[in-house]
Amino acid sequence: MVAKVIDGKVIAADLRARVAVDAARIKREHGVTPGLAAVLVGSDPASQVYVRSKVKQTEAAGMASFEHLLPVNASQAELLAVVEKLNRDPLVHGILVQLPLPAGLDPQAIVAAIDPAKDVDGLSPVNAGRIANGLPALTPCTPLGCIILAKTVHASLEGMNAIIIGRSNLVGRPLVQLLLNENATVTIAHSRTRDLASMCARADLVLAAVGKPEMVKANWIKPGATVIDVGINRIALADGKTRLVGDVAYNEVLEVAGAVTPVPGGVGQMTVACLLVNTLRAACAIHALGQPAV
Ligand code: GUN
Repeated sequence: MVAKVIDGKVIAADLRARVAVDAARIKREHGVTPGLAAVLVGSDPASQVYVRSKVKQTEAAGMASFEHLLPVNASQAELLAVVEKLNRDPLVHGILVQLPLPAGLDPQAIVAAIDPAKDVDGLSPVNAGRIANGLPALTPCTPLGCIILAKTVHASLEGMNAIIIGRSNLVGRPLVQLLLNENATVTIAHSRTRDLASMCARADLVLAAVGKPEMVKANWIKPGATVIDVGINRIALADGKTRLVGDVAYNEVLEVAGAVTPVPGGVGQMTVACLLVNTLRAACAIHALGQPAV
């Protein structure tokens, strides 16, 4: 049987549309326009693409968008000053500093300087700690997107055997906490894990976030398992062109899995949609408007 393809494009568009409806409501009822500030240091082409897409989708959802571009040689103090100004700006409810930062800047110190109430990336020590304690918090966008996608297949993740491949601060580590909060049984695997293939073969839910092109093979997958592919890798083809592939060998896994996300068109679409959700949530919390509908 061929796996169900989890259509991140459709699910993200639906989420963005629901955010837009609620953003319009709080504007109408409370005069609050949720605002997201994106800070980009330097001119890394991939980061420029991400930030442009964030700006476009924020505006399309009827929210205010603020963009701060700093030169690649900006100092730690200059970047901190921008973050502190945004912390104080009443029109800004969400602050995102695009990662990775150029060499010489300390991302941990910058992220820690973001007001936790405006930390829509959910990466600050306060939000990471709250998530680890099972408390309400702004939640990292890509892991949140993974959970939403998995829940389009399984109404509940309770009791499922989940394996996360990759232990990054941006994805793998927060995913552990979010899956635990869903009452899944969680294994986290990484570059030193022994016999990854057989560990994977026991999982009902596989989340691949290692950044290794097509590493997860069909014979690692339990028949019928749900596979969420967080990888976005650009590989060179023989004809000189390039192609985007995930961390999962998609075509072969499609023959074994129960459901699988494509790359592109899977998790990637969800990250920005979840950022909009977090900006709406942050605006509602800052203005004490109660939880939004989304
Ligand atoms: N770079 C790649 N993904 C992300 C993300 O989710 N947030 C930030 N700030 N930078 C990123």
